[in-house]
Amino acid sequence: MLVSPSLLSANFANLQQDIEMINNSSADMLHLDIMDGVFVPNISFGFPVIKSVQQICTKPLDVHLMVVEPQKFIGAVRDCGATIMNIHQEACIHLDRAVNEIKRAGMKAAVTLNPSTPVATLEDIISELDMVLLMSVNPGFGGQSFIENTLKKVTRLRHMIAASNSKALIEIDGGVNLHTGAQLAEAGADILVAGSYVFNSKTPIQTIQGLKEL
Ligand code: DX5
Ligand code: ZN
Repeated sequence: MLVSPSLLSANFANLQQDIEMINNSSADMLHLDIMDGVFVPNISFGFPVIKSVQQICTKPLDVHLMVVEPQKFIGAVRDCGATIMNIHQEACIHLDRAVNEIKRAGMKAAVTLNPSTPVATLEDIISELDMVLLMSVNPGFGGQSFIENTLKKVTRLRHMIAASNSKALIEIDGGVNLHTGAQLAEAGADILVAGSYVFNSKTPIQTIQGLKEL
C-alpha cells in the first residue's frame, strides 16, 4: 500500500519536527490540504506554508485543493513544487480543460470526489487521470469517521479503471486507520491518506509502517 500522511493534523507550531518524522518514515508522499472557507466550511493553510514545507520535505507533495475554481491556482501549486494536484470534480465546471492544464504544468492530475458524488461522473475523463481521490468523509476537517459506502465506490472505480485501460491510481482520504485501511486494501485502493491516525500516534513512524504493510 502507498501511504500519504496528511499534514492537517500535524503540530503547526513545529512543522519542522513533523516533516523530519515524515522524511524518516516509509511514507510515499505528503498530503497537503488547502481549504478556502467557501468550498468547505473551514480554512487551513496556503501556498507560503507549502513552499516552506517543500524546502525541507524529501517526499513528493500530494496537494489537495478544497477550494472553488481550483483551476485558478494551477500555476501557484506548480510553483510550490507539487508532484500531484488534486482538484474537486464538484468545484470545476471545465474539468477536462483543468486536468490538461495540470498535466501541461508538469504535475500529475488527480480528481477528487465528495462522498455523495458518484464514481460514474468520471467515466468520460478517467483515461486522462493519473489518480482519483475518493473522499471517505465530508471534506473540511480531520478526525472524522470513515463513511462505509466508500468501499463500494472503490470497487466500482476499480472496474471503471480496468474497463477504460486507465492507469489512474485510487487514493482514499478521511477516517483511515488500520481497520478501515485493511478494508480499503481489500476493495482495491492504491494509496491511503491518514491525518489524525498518524499525527495523534505516539509512534507515528510505526503507524505509517503499519499502513504500508496492508
Ligand atoms: C479532510 C482532509 C483530509 C484530512 C484527513 O478534509 O482532506 O486530508 O486531513 O484527516 P483524517 O485522516 O484525520 O480523517
Ligand atoms: Zn485531503
